[in-house]
Amino acid sequence: MSAPPTILVFDSGLGGLTVLREIVRARPDAHYVYVADDAFFPYGHHSEEQIIARVVPLVGELIAHHAPVLVVIACNTASTLVMSHLRSAYSVPFVGTVPAIKPACASSTTKRVSVLGTKGTVKREYTRRLINDFSQGCEVTLVGSAELASLAESALSGNDVRDEDIAAELAPCFVDDGKHRTDTVVLACTHYPLLLDRMKKLAPWPVDWIDPAPAIARRVSDLLCSPGQESDQAGAEIIFTSKRPHTLSQALMPFFGGRVPA
Ligand code: DGL
Repeated sequence: MSAPPTILVFDSGLGGLTVLREIVRARPDAHYVYVADDAFFPYGHHSEEQIIARVVPLVGELIAHHAPVLVVIACNTASTLVMSHLRSAYSVPFVGTVPAIKPACASSTTKRVSVLGTKGTVKREYTRRLINDFSQGCEVTLVGSAELASLAESALSGNDVRDEDIAAELAPCFVDDGKHRTDTVVLACTHYPLLLDRMKKLAPWPVDWIDPAPAIARRVSDLLCSPGQESDQAGAEIIFTSKRPHTLSQALMPFFGGRVPA
């Protein structure tokens, strides 16, 4: 039996686990290496030049070390910047994560959509272009959150995160001009689905929350042509670039389809 293919999933921290979870569901046959670049977290606070200079060589080292058949950049803040650089530097196929503006605008009834991402993602030329090309008559509100990724990271690590702090980051997404109000919020940062249950409770009114992770998993599955079948040899590893010892194995198991990440 041949060794299972390795899929490398990369994010600035633990947010990319929300994408990994869907990929593992779609492809239980693969071996997974999850890399959290926590030594450089949060990406949302760095300049475009700093992110390109950090991510492109780092991903190159990871490819050389782990020989993945495919790399997923499970981070909007990086994907809206680095995909073309990665594709021209390395021959392995890449899948990125970018704000799901097109499906959100297609499904909005009130034609009021908010895009909730890091300050970096909402500033990107790439994001502006998506709105320009795919807003389909919707009014799109860009909301750059300074703290939500760190709050999600903290909650997953078992710390108390106050409702008021989450609600304050969400508030600008909810626009009501008296006639129409926001009915769709794009989760344009992979950390945010970690807080989805709490965000639903704290929202001033119900909206559709658009998480692109299932679509990304379908794309990954299409690119790896053989059918997904579970394999005993398919394991899981998690790497923190800070080299901090991690004590989260139990909490992280559900994201790895029940495997204990080494
Ligand atoms: N998870 C990342 C994203 O999807 C960003 C969090 C950060 O490092 O600022 O944008």
